[in-house]
Amino acid sequence: MIKVAIPITGINEFKSLKKVVLSGKFVSGENVEIFEKDYAKFIGTKYAVAVNSGTAALHASLASLGLKKGDEVIVPAISFVSSATAILHQGCIPVFCDVNLENYCMCPTSLEKNITKRTKAIIPVHFAGSSCEMKKIIKIAKKYKIKIIEDCAQAHGTKYFGKNVGTFGEVSCFSFYATKHMTTGEGGILCTDNKNIRDFCRSFRNHGMKDRDTHFQLGYNFRMSELNAAIGRVQLKKLNQINQKRVKNSLYLLENLKNQKNKIKWFQIQEPIKEIYHTYFWCPIRIISKKISIDEVKNKLKKRGIEIRSRYKFPLYRQKVFQNFYFKKNQNYRKLRLLNAEKLSGKIFGLPNHYKLKKKDLDYIIKTMGNLFEK
Ligand SMILES: Cc1ncc(COP(=O)(O)O)c(C=O)c1O
Repeated sequence: MIKVAIPITGINEFKSLKKVVLSGKFVSGENVEIFEKDYAKFIGTKYAVAVNSGTAALHASLASLGLKKGDEVIVPAISFVSSATAILHQGCIPVFCDVNLENYCMCPTSLEKNITKRTKAIIPVHFAGSSCEMKKIIKIAKKYKIKIIEDCAQAHGTKYFGKNVGTFGEVSCFSFYATKHMTTGEGGILCTDNKNIRDFCRSFRNHGMKDRDTHFQLGYNFRMSELNAAIGRVQLKKLNQINQKRVKNSLYLLENLKNQKNKIKWFQIQEPIKEIYHTYFWCPIRIISKKISIDEVKNKLKKRGIEIRSRYKFPLYRQKVFQNFYFKKNQNYRKLRLLNAEKLSGKIFGLPNHYKLKKKDLDYIIKTMGNLFEK
């Protein structure tokens, strides 16, 4: 079976972990501190605050901007659920906007249409290693005086006009869940140039603590442990190398599939905006044939020894968690239908593109995709 992803951890992560175990210091130690400094440097922000998930990073970011009950936050309808549930955790209202059909990322026109007097923030999601159209999004944010929180959970090292995503908003959030570009086991981090945001988030992740005996605000236990940070430090050193291999494999697959365009009519490859360095968290393909379902593609490829990754089956507003939260007429999630989100959901998938694939594996994937629906 050609797996869609494989473990990216090895002996060096183990050695780093061993040191922490033997030291007995599991929280608030030098690994977290060094990892934060290194990650901020890698992304190009002044500060980073490590937490225990990407979702915690989003929640802390929303809180750090002073968002309150009833404030609206615009988020794309195609993403992982917590891009939007983090908004609920902060007591705010997720307002779903549509995505572009070509690159599956936030559609700036739909974003602007959804702005109201209550809009306080936007969460552009850099989907599957791609990048949103940040120039347009920043222009809109400035026009309406709205803050940007970038969701970079799927885009470690992705660049837009030569600059890393994660440097365009007030604050940006990354996930280190096991299948991401790099992992800490579980974990997340938020990056910012704003010292107040950094200080707020440091306290927010640690029970709202100022010092051992003073809790001046509501907080959570969102701390990253020394164990996770020790893995992260080793992983970060490998990140560029892993990304380069994934990019190389993805471009090889996508270029060759594009060349068969006249022969294969049932799918289209993603068309990212030109000015980006795409890190291909997935190697993204969209089924355009109405007659072909994702399950059919998955099963057929599985029978031929190829595993794929398919997300997201529904636009987020169709999930019960949001359907049960409808606040007012224009946020009646039960009635909402966003054209492109409806077209894309249940129709996009990722081909294997991990760093251990050989040319013969890639050629086999290309050939198999070419013949998948031939009689
Ligand atoms: C786009 C996006 N946002 C947020 C998250 C949440 O990250 P975590 O699973 O670390 O909480 C993920 C994780 O899959 C994600 O893909």
